[in-house]
Amino acid sequence: MRAVDLIIKKRDGKALKDEEIDFLIKGYVQGEIPDYQMASFLMATLIRGMNLEETVALTRSMVESGKQLDLSFLPGPTIDKHSTGGVGDKVSLALVPLLAACGLFIAKMSGRGLGHTGGTIDKLESIPGFRTALSLEELLAQVREIGCAIVAQTPELVPADGKLYALRDVTGTVESIPLIASSVMSKKIAAGASSILIDVKCGRGAFMKTLKQAKELSRVMVEIGGRMGRKVTCLVTPMEEPLGQAVGNALEVKEAIETLKGKGPRDFTEAVLELCGELLFLSGKEKSPEEGKERAREVLLGGAALKKFQQMISAQGGDERVIADPWRLPQANLRWIVSAKREGYIKTIDAFKIGKAAMVLGGGREKKGDPIDYGVGIGLRKKTGDQVTLEEPLAILYVNNRERLEEAQDLVEKAFSFSEEPVERKFKPLARISNA
Ligand code: URA
Repeated sequence: MRAVDLIIKKRDGKALKDEEIDFLIKGYVQGEIPDYQMASFLMATLIRGMNLEETVALTRSMVESGKQLDLSFLPGPTIDKHSTGGVGDKVSLALVPLLAACGLFIAKMSGRGLGHTGGTIDKLESIPGFRTALSLEELLAQVREIGCAIVAQTPELVPADGKLYALRDVTGTVESIPLIASSVMSKKIAAGASSILIDVKCGRGAFMKTLKQAKELSRVMVEIGGRMGRKVTCLVTPMEEPLGQAVGNALEVKEAIETLKGKGPRDFTEAVLELCGELLFLSGKEKSPEEGKERAREVLLGGAALKKFQQMISAQGGDERVIADPWRLPQANLRWIVSAKREGYIKTIDAFKIGKAAMVLGGGREKKGDPIDYGVGIGLRKKTGDQVTLEEPLAILYVNNRERLEEAQDLVEKAFSFSEEPVERKFKPLARISNA
């Protein structure tokens, strides 16, 4: 077999056999196929697509490129959760401890932020002392002990994804349904959980801009999971405006803590409860997602999830005093108010622009490896549907470097659009696709 023949085959729109896909992935991971050939193959795939059989074969080869976790020793249902990424998406910070407080076991591997989207690992690292680089043994021991852990992706699991994703990032080949589906599902399958929930973000702040694309991606991921023996539910949720009010690492940790105290923003709280309800159903703990959501609400309001978050922070070396006193998290030294230049109702808040503004302030990275300023970000004072009067604060910018203020302020001002008429706000997922 030669890589060039397989590139030509895909370029000409033909389907590849399982062994051909395996040859490409193994060869690439072992360094026998160079970046330029893999980049060409990825572009051919982005343009020509892959059928389901090919996408399943790709996922399987990626899973087999590294170690796979065996979670069968844990004394309860094992679950996992993934989000395709958005702005202000701090769901894992609150959801993971809530799931553990409900009696489920979760060894969550998360990523870092890139571009306008944030990453759970960066957010957790804003907690003084918090360790995200646990060994696999430490990870499993912690999950057995307290039910949950959130760690950085390890190259021991699915090394093919780390290499392919870095190449896709710089060759314009991220936005492909088979490539995204295999990337997400290979990591979830290798991480060993039997029930998997995927939050597929849809809208201007997400990879999937339309509901049609988001549903198609969901169908492919659910099918892959089913064929590989996993229960999978995809919830398509909106990412037009940022989730919650806080965008920025320490600000988002603070908001997650407030939410676990029962005082979080409504959209974020509902999103966390909805996802928890689905996982309680998927793992067989509750009879329906609705009953799961009610159970999740009881556990959250009872305070057990907050305690679990504190336990997780402490187990991973972080300063657990941030729970009682979130002001111990890194702070910015300047607050700048962006106020309304007209009155009316908020029609939309462009998540992409808000995410970009947070990055400009230093809260995110333009390229891999850039340093991060944990204290900066944006606090939204108004959300879609809210009424505003002239000069009312729309958002607060948390700033350390004044030179970046003007650009960020401009982005935040432009992110808001207004309507004369009242605007309805929706909290429900846009679609649910499941094999359970
Ligand atoms: N998230 C992933 O893990 N992989 C992709 O390809 C896109 C989003």
